[in-house]
Amino acid sequence: MSDKDNNVDPLLIQGHDYDGIEELDNPLPQWWLVTFLGTIVFGFLYWIYYEPLSGPTLMEELNEDLARIEKIQEKNEAQAPKLETVNFATLIDDSEAMGRAKVHFVAKCATCHGQQMQGLIGPNLVDKYWIHGKGTPEAMVGVIRNGVVEKGMVPWKGVIKDSEINEIVAYIISKEGTEVPNPKAPQGDKVD
Ligand code: HEC
Repeated sequence: MSDKDNNVDPLLIQGHDYDGIEELDNPLPQWWLVTFLGTIVFGFLYWIYYEPLSGPTLMEELNEDLARIEKIQEKNEAQAPKLETVNFATLIDDSEAMGRAKVHFVAKCATCHGQQMQGLIGPNLVDKYWIHGKGTPEAMVGVIRNGVVEKGMVPWKGVIKDSEINEIVAYIISKEGTEVPNPKAPQGDKVD
């Protein structure tokens, strides 16, 4: 008996000895096996659910989600004050409302639109050029509530009360055409 035989490696596959070359049994780690078998079980259940049991397709799931979002939006719209009933001209004459609007503007909007609305990161709000909806009060309320996230305009819905967003819009309208230092170059379409 050689030294080797006295000290048999437990992983050695007995009898697999070819011209002195021996085979080891290298078992896969437990965690790996469990994960692997888990994916097979998952794949099988997944297939059962979506094929024989005809689970919803991706398109159907998407449409369900979109319908749910639409319902939530409709509910929110129904709760928002009706814009047709907001009189922006009256708001402009309401000095308390304009005071509140100015505080909001300086605190929340001026960083991007400038203290005088001359435009910085965000567009100039006192010129005649508008990116969204020709600068109508309704369009402004929409942009301010919903934001233009991909362009860096923050949605303020839920942060500023709807009634105060209306006041801010009236405040912006009241500043239209004012002379401002370093106005930002026009963006969007000219509205006369
Ligand atoms: C983080 C920067 C940022 C802040 C803060 C911000 N805005 Fe904006 N805003 C933008 C950008 C950028 C745009 C341009 C969006 C686009 O290109 O579609 C924009 C667009 C607008 C528009 C539409 C302009 C147009 O030409 O159609 C209005 C109105 C507006 N912002 C009002 C506000 C008000 C009111 C506040 C504060 C409550 C505010 N913004 C805060 C960045 C900002």
